[in-house]
Amino acid sequence: MSKRLVYLDNAATTPVRPEVLEAMLPYLGKEAFGNPSSAHRFGRAARAGIEEAKRTIAETLGAEPNQVIFTSGGTEADNLAIIGAALASRDRGGPFRVAVSAIEHKAVLAAAHAVGRLGGLELILPVNASGVVDEGALEQALAGGVAVVSVMWVNNEVGVIQPVARIADRCCSAEVLFHTDAVQAFGKVPVSLPDVRCTLLTISGHKIGAPKGIGALIVRDREAVEAIIHGGGQQFGIRPGTENVPGIVALGKAVELAAAERAETERRLRALRDDLELRVLQAVPDAVINAWQAERAPHVSNVSIPGTDSEALLMHFDLAGIACSSGSACSTGSIEPSHVLTAMGVPRELGIAALRFSFGKDNTAEDVDAVIGALPKIVEKVRSLAAVLHR
Ligand SMILES: Cc1ncc(COP(=O)(O)O)c(C=O)c1O
Repeated sequence: MSKRLVYLDNAATTPVRPEVLEAMLPYLGKEAFGNPSSAHRFGRAARAGIEEAKRTIAETLGAEPNQVIFTSGGTEADNLAIIGAALASRDRGGPFRVAVSAIEHKAVLAAAHAVGRLGGLELILPVNASGVVDEGALEQALAGGVAVVSVMWVNNEVGVIQPVARIADRCCSAEVLFHTDAVQAFGKVPVSLPDVRCTLLTISGHKIGAPKGIGALIVRDREAVEAIIHGGGQQFGIRPGTENVPGIVALGKAVELAAAERAETERRLRALRDDLELRVLQAVPDAVINAWQAERAPHVSNVSIPGTDSEALLMHFDLAGIACSSGSACSTGSIEPSHVLTAMGVPRELGIAALRFSFGKDNTAEDVDAVIGALPKIVEKVRSLAAVLHR
């Protein structure tokens, strides 16, 4: 009998949903493979697929169809938002400075860094012990003048929800653009543009059952961003290049499904996540749930197990048929805590012993049982090995 595999790394990526695959297939084959810029029937069929996806995404988020700019994923959308907004501001004679939170995904942090390398300035907004952005630091950044503020809706490592509506209001009053990376938020918590006065919002397909390599940036004001890729006139010149039609159609379908199922998904995943955390603490009483005190999205649990290290835990779980993610990064041979846990002030020994379990629509109570069944032995093994190594 083959081993039952458990996938608890849905914040990293998700499988393509059958309904999404079915929707995109005609755009790969002979039915609608045309170039959407072509005027003939093949082109028009492809264009119709794009327009429908735009309408669905816009309607779901509370935007206008022409505000949906498709990109190659969340990373590109974040880069377009940060670098594009900084360049547009500079060219208008405004500030060439950006402010981003310390716990952003690397796509935002590295884009902010690129602005710095281009001669601008990147300001990093600290977070408190719960992982929530320091609004005093935000006020200072706004007072000093910035082109764009970027604060993610939901953090990918610990699941913390940021007060994006309030931050957006503050930015709006200060006449500063606000961008939010909603890659981990969409489909898990209510995401609606009319509730949040943000000009720019990122989503990514592969976190919600569409393929990798497709995402979108919602651009509510086209003057706000300058293109960072140059080419033809597609997508108003903001993001030129022949559109990834099958990917776009897939994103439209995945967004439609995720929005329709969101409330039920949120309820189900929260119950699974809470059950996991309760039982982890029963099995390993000195385990620490990172950001437990914060308002969190339902699908992410980040757990530190003192006296272990993330990589060893991860490998043992993998051997047991359970896929999760390490909350630390292995760089130049030594394990370093993630920048998110470090920014939250999590002590190093807990930071290097962090694991992320992230739930998706296919997870069940048996998956939690499998983790809890495997956990005590794995912790014992990793701890005894660590004790030998440190003797
Ligand atoms: C919060 C967040 N932003 C951005 C990204 C990058 O998205 P993509 O993988 O589509 O480039 C990810 C993916 O890990 C993410 O979790």
